[in-house]
Amino acid sequence: MTQPVNAQRRQLVVGGAAVAAAGMLPVVAKADDKVVKVGLIVPMSGPFASTGRQIDAAVKLYQKTHGDTVAGRKVQVILKDDTGVAPDATKRIAQELITRDKVDVLAGFGLTPLAFAAAPLATQAKKPMVVMAAATSVIVDRSPYIVRTSFTLPQATAPLAMWAAKEGIKTVITFVADYGPGIDAEKVFAKHFTEAGGEIIDNVRTPLMNPDYAPFLQRVKDAKPEAVFAFVPSGEGANLIKQFNERGLAQAGIRLICTGDVLDDDLMASIGEVSQGVVSSHHYSAAHDSAANKAYVEAFMRDNNGQRPNFMSVGGYDGMHLIYEALKKTNGDADGTKLLDAMKGMSWESVRGPVTIDPETRDIVQDIYIRKSDKVDGQMWNVEFDKVSQYKDPGI
Ligand code: DHB
Repeated sequence: MTQPVNAQRRQLVVGGAAVAAAGMLPVVAKADDKVVKVGLIVPMSGPFASTGRQIDAAVKLYQKTHGDTVAGRKVQVILKDDTGVAPDATKRIAQELITRDKVDVLAGFGLTPLAFAAAPLATQAKKPMVVMAAATSVIVDRSPYIVRTSFTLPQATAPLAMWAAKEGIKTVITFVADYGPGIDAEKVFAKHFTEAGGEIIDNVRTPLMNPDYAPFLQRVKDAKPEAVFAFVPSGEGANLIKQFNERGLAQAGIRLICTGDVLDDDLMASIGEVSQGVVSSHHYSAAHDSAANKAYVEAFMRDNNGQRPNFMSVGGYDGMHLIYEALKKTNGDADGTKLLDAMKGMSWESVRGPVTIDPETRDIVQDIYIRKSDKVDGQMWNVEFDKVSQYKDPGI
């Protein structure tokens, strides 16, 4: 076995010398140097595959619209499926992308435990890690190389808690997926709602994996709060709302309010009219009223068999924008620390509205909208009717 390998190696050496002698080696090396590699790690399979599909579609749309070359450098996206449920897999994939593929930027990260798993590798390799989805507040503290283009649960939740109190709702049960972002949502809702005079009468936490909401919803029904405040991760909301109605909570006069994660834009059609009137808060709605967003929704639906873009797609689209604009600022220099510095403080007009990367925290500052699920032109949409402008993650 060793003989052929050695022979091959000799050939390569000779070949290399010949190329060098002909003065071609620097040209070859330079051509390769021109490629900036983005390692995109998202769940493309498993229970959270919708997150990966939305982000991947948005990244592809960004490159289709803006071209694959910026500041003289071709941007190559290397897509990897981490299945969404195995932090060890995410970590191994990130390691391979750094050492074998020599990526310049890590991106994606569909769920909080997966972002946690990759964070130390970004620090060690000094590579920017663009978190396009995961939304637990503390994520940005896990590496000085993390920049976030999604949102945080405290950021989305606090404005809704204040709205609920103002609306005159007095008693609430919080109902969250039992892991990082859910715990953030639970604590932040309770803090802002009770500060405004409301009362939390129970905290319900549901399993992240294969949740059966029925027994938890029964517990809520028996306790008879005026409203339930809910958070479940993207892709799960249709199940929750279906069971909420099947269990008769709406009929019992219990109101549902939630973060926009529960009312994914791509699921609104399958959720149907049972969501009529549900008030939620989030940083993006496909119904956001701007010319840029209309064009985005139209292009996304055209390229994805009529499927609407949801908030996950926008984290991906803006993540690509951040990478492209940072490369423009560095004149195409993809050094990790230089790219990171270029990303800090960047502001732009996103399809969600105006956004800024806070230069101190590297987290996104954005408008948070209060929306109502409503029928427009025969289809259900999350219609924005109020907002808190340029709201930073308030922490927990
Ligand atoms: C996270 C995942 C989601 O799907 C979501 O909607 C919000 C947060 C997370 O794991 O951080």
